[in-house]
Amino acid sequence: MIIFNKEKKQFHLSNNNMSYVMEIIENKYLVHVYNGKKIQEFCQQNVYPQNGRSSFSPNPKELESGKFSYDLWPQEYSASGAGDYRETAFNATYPDGTQATSLTYKSHKILAGKPELEGLPQVYVEDKDEASTLVVTLEDIYREIEVDLNYTIYHDRDVLARSAKVRNISKENMKLERILSANFDFPHMNYDVIQLPGTWAKEKQLKRSPLSHGIFKLDSKRGASSSAQQPFMALATSNTTDFSGEAHGFHFIYSGNFKIVTEVDIFEQTRVLLGINDYQFNWTLKPGECFQAPEMVYVYSDKGLNHMSQTFHSLYRERLVRGKFRDQERPILTNNWETTYFDFNEEKLLDLAENAKNLGVELFVLDDGWFGKRNDDTTSLGDWNVDTSKLPKGLKNLSVKIKEKGLKFGLWFEPEMISPVSDLFKKHPDWHLHINEFPSSLARNQYVLDFSRQEVRDYIFDKMTTILDEVPVDYIKWDFNRNLTEVASVGRLAENQQETTHRYYLGLYDFLEKLIARYPDILFENCSGGGGRFDPGMAYYMPQSWTSDNTDAVDRMKIQYGNSLVYPTIMTCAQLSDVPNHQLNRITDLETRALVAMSANFGVMLDLDKKTKAELEAVKPFIEWYKENRSTIQFGDFYRLMSPFDTNYASWLIVDKEQEIALLYFFQILSNVSHPHIRLQLTGLQENAFYEVDGQLISGEELMNYGLYMNGDLSGDFKGKVLTIRRK
Ligand code: GLA
Repeated sequence: MIIFNKEKKQFHLSNNNMSYVMEIIENKYLVHVYNGKKIQEFCQQNVYPQNGRSSFSPNPKELESGKFSYDLWPQEYSASGAGDYRETAFNATYPDGTQATSLTYKSHKILAGKPELEGLPQVYVEDKDEASTLVVTLEDIYREIEVDLNYTIYHDRDVLARSAKVRNISKENMKLERILSANFDFPHMNYDVIQLPGTWAKEKQLKRSPLSHGIFKLDSKRGASSSAQQPFMALATSNTTDFSGEAHGFHFIYSGNFKIVTEVDIFEQTRVLLGINDYQFNWTLKPGECFQAPEMVYVYSDKGLNHMSQTFHSLYRERLVRGKFRDQERPILTNNWETTYFDFNEEKLLDLAENAKNLGVELFVLDDGWFGKRNDDTTSLGDWNVDTSKLPKGLKNLSVKIKEKGLKFGLWFEPEMISPVSDLFKKHPDWHLHINEFPSSLARNQYVLDFSRQEVRDYIFDKMTTILDEVPVDYIKWDFNRNLTEVASVGRLAENQQETTHRYYLGLYDFLEKLIARYPDILFENCSGGGGRFDPGMAYYMPQSWTSDNTDAVDRMKIQYGNSLVYPTIMTCAQLSDVPNHQLNRITDLETRALVAMSANFGVMLDLDKKTKAELEAVKPFIEWYKENRSTIQFGDFYRLMSPFDTNYASWLIVDKEQEIALLYFFQILSNVSHPHIRLQLTGLQENAFYEVDGQLISGEELMNYGLYMNGDLSGDFKGKVLTIRRK
């Protein structure tokens, strides 16, 4: 619901749980008033203390001293150069070479539903009744620009989606130096910052630390959201736990460079800003043109971090992911990568597929190495023609044979890349992002194709569709194995070169939109050396993501635990792999490995050809168990119970929507003598119902208040178990 109180000039956006209030003061300035737990009716008006503070916080010229300062008042959308000395959301250089912007209220409209953002990933509604949208237009009458701020509040989700769009209504070009998507001002600094830093094979390492004075920045300059940081941050009060307390979650729906800045200002107020990173970014806006900054989502929880996560989970599962796979259980896949790497032929693949089928696997994925002359990672990216020395009868033949076995067939691509050793590079030595007369950096022996150029995208689209129109393909793993360097585009004017990274992403999104529209029956999995571009932007096009190249069970406990802060299990791909683990040589039990992988969107990556019959038989029951519980795991509510970042244990619970089945996963990392007994209180059950646990009937309230002893029967390092709890 969105109400505009004309007398008070106050906007109140609310649903059953949350309120967001802003007002226009002095008939001009759009200031932030409140966001948090629902307030039925907001009565106060213009109450921000007007005590002027000092001459060091300037006032706009036409106001008496003290009535308003951009430097003090909480803003809805801050701009640089006219008195707000904090980090700001907007900055531009105008035709006279100067930088100062003063944004004031011009008009607003309230819409049912949610308008579409053209060419960008976004959350959506299926019905106009699901959400309401407020569009507030701000203007700078001296600079002749307008900024539209979009606020969509969902009626049944504690979610506010925001974005910003600037229009040049002057007669001259101007240069946008920074246009962030949103600005949130909070009245104090008593928060912890929760973030998900990481690196390759060590993604989303959950960290929490108290907010302090000054500027704190999470960002990516890698030309991808990257595994170094997730475009996410939460502010939580210090007593907030997974189960109670207030949390504000911010997530940017974009896959390129981003920044999330938190500033505690001179009066200990906190500002959060997020959007496209202004590192290597500016944008020339011609008269009449607009620039649309991507969308971000804000989630409010007054019931702890699990509730915040579940709000993200259901939003992404139901209103970010699109297409027929959105509501479908996902197939159990196997992938030949760790088994064969580049060394395979048709016979070997068919053997693997046969063994996989016998185990109960449903989808066979042919990974890297099937095209060009790719026997290692030094060649052939861009040469999307089947390598007939490995597959003499072609891809179609392989796909048909695999499908005859009753498996689906999937294929790996890395469409945004080019190897310097490739036919494509010989033909088009200037199609990659590079700077003339400046050395191009290699990473994994490859360059990045310039997806900001239409002809480059068209060529790759044509190569891919030639294959996909001929070969029956049910699934694509879309990889992206390096970050951007020397970002420049041949033929682009000097003054537009810093637009290249964002234009790259606009190009990629356009490509993906066309591809998924043409192949609605293909399931896409997003990958970037594991979770290197696992972000909500990519999730708009690809319903699932490879979480990490690290498949070690113990490391995965952390990676998946961190990942669960924002992403639902169905998006989070995990595979049961061999030991010693290929990434870190650790040996863990089959059961532990299987249970960690079976907490998410499950697959197997085992060298099936080298397994004895007994070893293969040992895997089967896990696959059967997963199939029985798949709908709970992929569509249920996920609760974090014990953190592997803080304890020697990891535990989580998945409860189906009807609260009939709960799967309780528990892991002990290291064994120790005289260990504490862990009695875990469950959550998310029906208080008055009885549940069967290991043959015993226990009430929901007992399970949630007294709990269950968990570690008494676990002995040894890296042990795990799952309890299936059924309502009677
Ligand atoms: C990336 C992926 C792996 C695999 C290789 C193939 O590293 O994350 O799963 O597909 O590329 O080269």
